[in-house]
This record gives sequence, structure tokens and C-alpha cells, in this order.
Amino acid sequence: SSAPLKVAVTGAAGQIGYSLLFRLASGALTNGRPIELRLLEITPALKALEGVVMELDDCAFPSLAGVEIGDDAEKIFDGVNLALLVGARPRGPGMERGDLLSANGAIFTAQGKALNAVAADDVRIGVTGNPANTNALIAHKNAPDIPAERFSALTRLDHNRAISQLAAKTGAPVTDITKMTIWGNHSATQYPDLFHAEVAGKNAAETVGDQDWLENTFIPTVAKRGAAIIEARGSSSAASAASATVDAARDWLFGSAEGDWVSMAVVSDGSYGVPEGLVSSFPVTTKDGDWSIVQGLDIDDFSRARIDASVAELADERDAVTELGLI
Ligand code: NAI
Repeated sequence: SSAPLKVAVTGAAGQIGYSLLFRLASGALTNGRPIELRLLEITPALKALEGVVMELDDCAFPSLAGVEIGDDAEKIFDGVNLALLVGARPRGPGMERGDLLSANGAIFTAQGKALNAVAADDVRIGVTGNPANTNALIAHKNAPDIPAERFSALTRLDHNRAISQLAAKTGAPVTDITKMTIWGNHSATQYPDLFHAEVAGKNAAETVGDQDWLENTFIPTVAKRGAAIIEARGSSSAASAASATVDAARDWLFGSAEGDWVSMAVVSDGSYGVPEGLVSSFPVTTKDGDWSIVQGLDIDDFSRARIDASVAELADERDAVTELGLI
């Protein structure tokens, strides 16, 4: 249909927003179908957001059908087909993990409730703001009328980072790398898996043939890439996070490529021994707005231990937010 896709973005005046909004407005998500942006910020950031909207206007994007901004989630989320929850509370100096979880809990309980009340029936919700997996769990648990499979947290940036590192190691173009998987949490415990990935149709781990590189270079480079970017740039990854947010949403709504899969953190159905209900990253294929977890992959002891460690961290986070009364 040619009705605009209504897309909400939270934290729209932030770093990621500054890149994401222009990609969305230019039609990167909708392949030219008109898009309406609905931008949520906290009150003190609305003035800066007005400036960003002036710049959006100044691009005269043909596919941008309208922009609405505000600080009231129930107004901004009204009728949205897609909500990209980017805004979150960063960890400040002296903040404990519990403080971080409660600060974000306040945001994601409220936004889950607002989506539950006013979003379109076909809404999909992608969480980029950290701790992304647990924020998605909180939003999901506070939106009882929205099916669980409509919530996802972003591990596509990790997935893209893993593709890029493998391409550089093997000299293959990124287009030759398929079946990459990020398992678990979007955190330093994540497990980027080369045992099922392929380079030009051949098993990636065998093609690399270097367990030491896989274990001691590849995995930590992907898992700690965010910190390396902060170290180099003085602020956290933003354009790449925005690009991954678009990739993830586009594949979710319009389907993953034939013969390939993508990584998404979704509510576990118990696949691969990941406890039901945790929002954990899996290999998934997507079609017509739905995802399904790729089944039947053999998991060896090396992979098992790493998946289990990341999933244990997710279970800890869930227990912490349960204790805080957020879910
Ligand atoms: P930022 O601090 O530049 O922007 C965040 C924005 O969110 C701010 O403008 C703030 O006013 C807004 N905000 C805070 N509370 C809000 C609320 N209740 N409603 C609406 N807006 C609210 O941060 P940046 O760099 O844009 O990153 C955003 C989030 O994305 C962070 O949590 C960051 O850790 C996370 N991130 C996730 C990645 C992933 O791969 N999943 C990768 C990179 C960043």
C-alpha cells in the first residue's frame, strides 16, 4: 500500500538519532514507500530535536510524508507500525548496575505501556538502547496485548561487525559472508559464531583454519568493538548503530535474503537450550514481518560454553529487573 509507514524513534535528538533519522527519511527502510516519523524525546531535548527536524525539512526527502515530535509517548506512539527504541539512560559516573537497570526500567516500562495502549495492531518494536536485551524484555512484559514475537533487541551491529572482521581476515567481500550468528546478550559476553558461518559457501571456521585467531582475536575484537570505538572517537558508535538499526528493521519487515540468515535478539521459545522467555540473540530468518529461529544447528562444546555464559548473564539481568519489580 502507499499509506506512509508510521515509524517512531525514541532518543531522536541523540547521536544515533542524528544518523538514523536521515537514513529512514531517505527511504532506506521502506524502499521509497513514504514514511512518517514520530520522534520522542525528553522535554529538555525537544529544542535540539526541533533543530534536527529543520535539517530533515532541508533535505526535501521525497519519501518523508511527515514528522511529529513530542515528549508524550502515548501521543508519539499513536498508530505506529514500527517503534525503534533508541533512547536510554547511559551509565553515569558511580552508577551501579542496579541503578542503570532501574533508570532504564522506568523508561521501558512506561514505553511498553504506551505502545500497548496506542500502537497499531501490526506494530514491531526494535530496541537499540542499552542494556538492549533486558530493555526489550521490560517493554514486552509491560505490553501484555502485544504478541511477544513483536519485540526484538538489536544485535545486528555485532553481526555486521563479525561479517566485516571475517571478510578482512579472509580477503572475501562482505557479500560472500553468509550465515553469521551472534548468540546471547548484546554485551561483552556475546558469542559471534564462525562454525556455522560461510565464506563463499564454505564453512568459515575451516576456511580460516586458525582456532587461535578465532578464539583470541576474532571473538574479543567483535565483542569489544564498541569500547574500541569509544577509545578512538571519544564517543560511542552511532552511525554504524543507526545503520544496523535500519538493516534489522528492513529485514524484519521485508524479509531476509534467500539462503542466508540474520541475528536478532528475540523472546526465546527454548531453542538451543536458551530458557524460554529470555530475550536472546539467535540466527533467524524473516519473512512478511515474522521471524523464525533457524533450527537444527549442531552446537559443539566450545560454542555451548560461550552461549551458556552469555545466556547466564541474561538470566541474571532478568532476575535483577524482576527483583526491582519492573517485570
Ligand atoms: P545519546 O545519549 O546520544 O542519545 C540518547 C537520547 O535518548 C538522548 O537525546 C536522550 O535525551 C534520549 N532519551 C533519554 N531518555 C529518554 C526517554 N525516556 N524517552 C525518549 N528519549 C529519551 O545516545 P546514543 O549514542 O544515541 O545511543 C543511544 C542508545 O543506544 C544508548 O543506550 C547506547 O548504549 C545504545 N547503543 C546500542 C547499540 C547496539 O548495538 N544495540 C550500539 C550503540 C549504542
